[in-house]
Amino acid sequence: MKDEETIRSEFPILDKEVNGKSLVYFDNAATTQKPKAVINRISNFLSEENANIHRGVHHLSMNATKAYDEARSCVAKFINAESDNEIIFVRGATEAINLVANSFGKNLLDTGDEILVTEMEHHANIVPWQLIANKTGAKVIPIAITDDGEIDLKDFEAKINERTKMAAFVHVSNALGTVNPAKEMIHKLKSKNIPVLLDGAQAVGHQAVNVQELGCDFYVFSSHKLFGPDGMGVLYGKHNLLSKMPPYQGGGDMIEVVSFEGTTFREPPERFEAGTPNISGAVGLKEAINYVNELGWENIEKIESSLLNYATEKLSSIPSLKIIGKAKRKVPVLSFTMESAHPHDVATILDSKGIAVRAGHHCAQPLMKRLGVSATTRASMSFYNKVDEIDQLDEALKYVSKIFGD
Ligand SMILES: Cc1ncc(COP(=O)(O)O)c(C=O)c1O
Repeated sequence: MKDEETIRSEFPILDKEVNGKSLVYFDNAATTQKPKAVINRISNFLSEENANIHRGVHHLSMNATKAYDEARSCVAKFINAESDNEIIFVRGATEAINLVANSFGKNLLDTGDEILVTEMEHHANIVPWQLIANKTGAKVIPIAITDDGEIDLKDFEAKINERTKMAAFVHVSNALGTVNPAKEMIHKLKSKNIPVLLDGAQAVGHQAVNVQELGCDFYVFSSHKLFGPDGMGVLYGKHNLLSKMPPYQGGGDMIEVVSFEGTTFREPPERFEAGTPNISGAVGLKEAINYVNELGWENIEKIESSLLNYATEKLSSIPSLKIIGKAKRKVPVLSFTMESAHPHDVATILDSKGIAVRAGHHCAQPLMKRLGVSATTRASMSFYNKVDEIDQLDEALKYVSKIFGD
């Protein structure tokens, strides 16, 4: 196992100074930092290997095609998909959900049908369903959460009925850090033949994901939250569903034959990858996956759970601070409010001390409403964070408390 210093030395940005202070990066739920291996791999691809894929018979194009296909195989193994053809490369989790809502949802849904989500969804897993509901006459039904920020499983069971045609919910909450009992929920939904999409945007950077064990029909995530490049993401879909879904976008590479009389389409995954994809993004994502695989999930989870426990203990001891989200199973995300200081003021003061956190509604306005807050400050950690960075956060928050007279 690599030691803390080695891990940190592999992320060049962590050496940076911000506002004259060493950077403390606690905004990992927004995006993760990139290891040198990923940066170098993308740089090398662009300087030595760049070509468009699939269409060329020349050396560079064939090699770029091979690299792109290998990235797909790597992702399939990473989440234990049954085959590479179940992996569609997209721009990110948002695009993946829009693809499923439009291609799968549009054919599936009808007037009066219900799409189950939860009160803790990111807007990316609410708005695409609302848009398709508006077109089809279906309704989006939220499952309640508890005050601790866990899914209310009684409400979950009560909301399933004969009108439920689709369920889409978050694996790990971006605003609260809650790890949902996805496997058990999926099992219940599948026993009623309800298709399930799991939003794994916040899960993939913290824990191993096994889509076959989870039993979901679709799983989505973004590469940039997994130490890879942005503008790159993954839609996993069960092959028997993908093969029946119509294209989401039309263009080059997704067709068999085009004529003005009509066009036929390729099988998945190509059917859903119209146009030139993010080739360097795929190559970079593969490198990011290699990086976390080498570090090992057991090691990552061990580091992160001790960071979470330490930070929870420290922040709980500040009298004016209230932690929002106290689920039993969490990734290292701490959302909080302070008695007198607005979350934006807290984040601005922390920034002056070199500490990067996020403040706002975290693209989860219905969740904020449910919890009775307009915004929170969120410190989200990753395996490259350190205990003394939490001490710096604690000190800085005590300073905020003091100047706001709490
Ligand atoms: C839970 C969750 N779902 C979906 C998304 C959307 O991801 P992206 O903006 O990378 O498409 C995010 C981003 O923060 C998220 O946290």
